[in-house]
Amino acid sequence: MICVLRLSHRKIRDQRVSTHVFLVARAFGADEGVLCGELDKNLLDGIAKITKVWGGNFKVRYEENWRKFLIERKKEGWKIVHLTMYGLDFEEEIKKLKNKIGKKDGKIVVVVGSQKVPPEVYQIADINIAVYNQPHSEVAALAIFLDRLVDKKTLEKKLEGGVIKIIPDRCMKKVIRVKKD
Ligand SMILES: C[S@@+](CC[C@H](N)C(=O)[O-])C[C@H]1O[C@@H](n2cnc3c(N)ncnc32)[C@H](O)[C@@H]1O
Repeated sequence: MICVLRLSHRKIRDQRVSTHVFLVARAFGADEGVLCGELDKNLLDGIAKITKVWGGNFKVRYEENWRKFLIERKKEGWKIVHLTMYGLDFEEEIKKLKNKIGKKDGKIVVVVGSQKVPPEVYQIADINIAVYNQPHSEVAALAIFLDRLVDKKTLEKKLEGGVIKIIPDRCMKKVIRVKKD
């Protein structure tokens, strides 16, 4: 089980990037997205609609208190992974995490920031992981991290269902409707 938590969302400033965080989470194998910061119903509805149309079981919801959420998840046995440029090298750490996720009860919360991340997040996290020790983007960091963590077979299985499907084609857009709305 993989949950992606987006910290400190600002409705006007972050709408596009936070949406992309959840689009990447869903497409790259996460099971759940949690929005913290300002409540943004349009964003949550938009992601739910994408899942309905394109398949999978990705759930997205709002959580007012990220601290309480992370502490509770930790107690329930989830591993908290914070993506930050200040963290340890992801190539090494991902091997250990992959082991965990493969197990039936493997549960990981991946935390991505937006504005300045509170120091407490670094302390609550079981591990702070960097996708290279350079500043870049939460969307890129999450995509690279999940791509390494989740294998392709699991990914395809997680995204079954939906009402439309792409037929990959070299030179045109081919989309079929697999069932009625
Ligand atoms: C654009 S950064 C801003 C970070 C913020 N100024 C701070 O104090 O941490 C937003 C988020 O992108 C992610 N991020 C950026 N660079 C990263 C890297 N090299 N490795 C992992 N995550 C990264 C982190 O989750 C970070 O919180």
